[in-house]
Amino acid sequence: MLAPRGAALLLLHLALQPWLGAGAQTTPQVFDLLPSASQRLNPGALQPVLTDTTLNELYVISTFKLQTKSSATIFGLYSSADNSKYFEFTVMGRLNKAILRYLKNDGKIHLVVFNNLQLADGRRHRVLLRLNNLHRGAGSVELYVDCSQVDSIHNLPRAFSGLAQSPEAVELRTFQRKAQDSLEELKLAVRGSLFQVASLQDCFLQQSEPLATTSTGDFNRQFLGQMSQLNQLLGEVKDLLRQQVKETSFLRNTIAECQACGPLSFQSPTPSNTVVPPVLPASLIPPVRRCDSNPCFRGVRCTNTRDGFHCGPCPEGYTGNGITCSDVDECKYHPCYPGVRCVNLAPGFRCDTCPVGFTGSTVQGVGINFAKTNKQVCTDIDECRSGACVLNSICVNTLGSYRCGPCKPGYIGDQTRGCKMERNCRNPELNPCSVNAQCIEERQGDVTCVCGVGWAGDGYICGKDVDIDSYPDEELLCSASNCKKDNCKYVPNSGQEDADGDGLGDACDEDADGDGILNEQDNCVLTHNVDQRNSDKDMFGDACDNCRNVLNNDQKDTDGDGKGDACDDDMDGDGIKNILDNCQKVPNRDQQDKDGDGVGDACDSCPDVSNPNQSDVDNDLVGDSCDTNQDSDGDGHQDSTDNCPTVINSAQLDTDKDGIGDECDDDDDNDGIPDLVPPGPDNCRLVPNPAQEDSNSDGVGDICETDFDHDQVIDRIDVCPENAEVTLTDFRAYQTVVLDPEGDAQIDPNWVVLNKGMEIVQTMNSDPGLAVGYTAFNGVDFEGTFHVNTQTDDDYAGFIFGYQDSSSFYVVMWKQTEQTYWQATPFRAVAEPGIQLKAVKSKTGPGEHLRNSLWHTGDTSDQVRLLWKDSRNVGWKDKVSYRWFLQHRPQVGYIRVQFYEGSELVADSGVTIDTTMRGGRLGVFCFSQENIIWSNLKYRCNDTIPEDFQEFQTQNFDRLDN
Ligand SMILES: *[C@@H]1O[C@H](CO)[C@@H](O)[C@H](O)[C@H]1NC(C)=O
Ligand SMILES: *[C@@H]1O[C@H](CO)[C@@H](O)[C@H](O)[C@H]1NC(C)=O
Repeated sequence: MLAPRGAALLLLHLALQPWLGAGAQTTPQVFDLLPSASQRLNPGALQPVLTDTTLNELYVISTFKLQTKSSATIFGLYSSADNSKYFEFTVMGRLNKAILRYLKNDGKIHLVVFNNLQLADGRRHRVLLRLNNLHRGAGSVELYVDCSQVDSIHNLPRAFSGLAQSPEAVELRTFQRKAQDSLEELKLAVRGSLFQVASLQDCFLQQSEPLATTSTGDFNRQFLGQMSQLNQLLGEVKDLLRQQVKETSFLRNTIAECQACGPLSFQSPTPSNTVVPPVLPASLIPPVRRCDSNPCFRGVRCTNTRDGFHCGPCPEGYTGNGITCSDVDECKYHPCYPGVRCVNLAPGFRCDTCPVGFTGSTVQGVGINFAKTNKQVCTDIDECRSGACVLNSICVNTLGSYRCGPCKPGYIGDQTRGCKMERNCRNPELNPCSVNAQCIEERQGDVTCVCGVGWAGDGYICGKDVDIDSYPDEELLCSASNCKKDNCKYVPNSGQEDADGDGLGDACDEDADGDGILNEQDNCVLTHNVDQRNSDKDMFGDACDNCRNVLNNDQKDTDGDGKGDACDDDMDGDGIKNILDNCQKVPNRDQQDKDGDGVGDACDSCPDVSNPNQSDVDNDLVGDSCDTNQDSDGDGHQDSTDNCPTVINSAQLDTDKDGIGDECDDDDDNDGIPDLVPPGPDNCRLVPNPAQEDSNSDGVGDICETDFDHDQVIDRIDVCPENAEVTLTDFRAYQTVVLDPEGDAQIDPNWVVLNKGMEIVQTMNSDPGLAVGYTAFNGVDFEGTFHVNTQTDDDYAGFIFGYQDSSSFYVVMWKQTEQTYWQATPFRAVAEPGIQLKAVKSKTGPGEHLRNSLWHTGDTSDQVRLLWKDSRNVGWKDKVSYRWFLQHRPQVGYIRVQFYEGSELVADSGVTIDTTMRGGRLGVFCFSQENIIWSNLKYRCNDTIPEDFQEFQTQNFDRLDN
């Protein structure tokens, strides 16, 4: 039992070591005053002590219990002669105060008040008063209650000289004993250390240094909390000691009674009621400590003093008495910018980086002073200066952030689209276009300028364009390609082709290839070949012949490999030789042939019906064997193959390829979001986007934002933004239709396609014929420049639309002069000059009936209906360019065609309604006229019903009504 207890004591001693401070040099001299309490004190005992000027310190210790809120003078020294006070300590329970009064040297009473004390609360309290230097003035009083220092008062006036003057008459009084009150102890001690004196009360206190600064000196004050805990601990230790003493005496008695043990002497334990403090085991009495035991905090200077040692101030960033130093929390001094995290370090602190939107350095330092004088500075970033908002918009810089406002005055748009100079077609001041341009306001406030008919340029600058091929007659001061001077001023050539690069376009260069042989004599018009060698004796010299040894005047080259079909053993270039290929001119590696008729599905006009001869008399690309010509909705597609049999959709667009055309499909892109009804409308009708992402919330999904049909051609230049299969005007692929195949009046037309499919030239004086593009349209706008580049002949030329088959199409045709057709059978046909719009719906199909009916200006039964004729009745002029504009809306049968000569509108069909053909393909038409140029062709999908259709309907309704 002993061993563990001893070990615990040793541990405790070690634990106390750091703060068990400087020890006393001598044992204190203690006077127990209690036996003489309420009696007159023998002044002889006290007087010399109190008046001993060599004594620095005087301790009064008392232990008492007072009723709650009661007041009592614990003890006092009074003059026996006149009852005047020398010294008095009073507890004012109700006020939570204690008052020490003493007689100053000047004969007056000095009052020392200790506040916030709870000494009258029915509990036992130990009070220790330590008086310092009261003899010499500038003395101090320290008050300890229950082993902790609770107050200290400095610079007290001198005292006790009065005592000396009246030596015999000092009287000690203590408070009146009531039943509940008790004074257990009252002692006066001199000499010895605070620690020694306090231990009389079972307290373990430190010798304190003068309370000069906070960084040195009195550490009791700073360890009050720890002290009380430790005091409690030491109290327990003392209990153990007492028990140990008992055990020891028990042992001693036992041993003393034991004869065999021999003589042994034991020091008798000191009676506890003597004035001598209880003897502590040597291990618990702290040795006097010196600097060599490193008592100070690391890095703190240590100086040995008379009483022990003295520690210098704590290091920067620490606070404490030098023995113990604790880190200062600099963050309490708010060194960081508001909102920035302050990290307290040991030692020092650190501020995080400035908040977002601010600039400034991080701050790191040590100590309160540094924290106070080096506050973190964060300055607001002016985001507006660095272009946080879109150009030309209002930007408001705020603390730590910014705000973008609307566009500045004079600009329109928003933060998503940008702010563009406000442009407006209606206000002349805001109209940026050339006076010769058309100003077009687009949906999002953008303005586009397009040079008017007969003018060319970039829209801001427009120059005269006499041949209406979109190149100006003279160079313009702008950078677009359409600002360059036309290389053939009077001949439309929208591709500006110039084989010999002499600055003169092929279309107007008598020797286009510059080989010294004029085009008319040259067997290679565009290829330099002075020798004119021509091995196969066809129309093309070896230098430009794609089959040098095979006669091939058509020069056809299906796969475009430079080897003409006539001499190419794999015309379509699909890797299967012609003789084995079931589609010689359509690439089909799979060679699939469902109906087993020897014609591959890829080129079979009846893929499901055997038709080895592929005959297609009506030229509608549907073989006769499967051609029903049953077309309920009139859009040119027979019911059996129409992907919307009862909805007009000549284009047959079926974006999701589900066999149901978009026009009659509720979910065109099959993404589960219906096109129109909730949870739609689909914000990308043609591109699957089941999540409907729309980051700019403009109602158009992200995936189709600028390219609605996702065909890789942005909407701005896409001629059919809502049809992925049509992107740019292109007639490079076309079907030729001969309208009088039996007749041998003239040869068949010769079509040449230029400018990437945007220009067609027909060179031969021919039978009537068509070149028809393969793209079928619903609503369409179709425009082009029409030019007869010869003075020879005066016959028909024009264009077609709504082509469904060779018996069904619309034609706009124009003749130069009136003329009766030279073949009077089957009937006499008379052509008038003047532009004509005709609906062809021929019962017979191509042949002499249709031929004569086309020639004739007027209706012919079962063949052609004349819908409109230019009342001016004037023919086209040789070598003059005309520009036509056609609008066709098959949905409602709206047709309107306009002709410009130069920039002047010369003919206008007005609103014409016909529903014979509900859409179809586009092409050009000629009849017995050579050298026709259709230049700068443009088509656009357009299903918008023009405003004049509504007016037209209303007027006609009124007419019917009246
Ligand atoms: C093509 O074949 C069909 C039978 O499959 C026949 O009726 C038709 O007359 C033939 N046409 C030609 C032009 O040979
Ligand atoms: C489509 O047609 C409408 C009505 O004719 C017209 O106002 C509009 O400009 C056309 N759109 C385009 C892109 O040409």
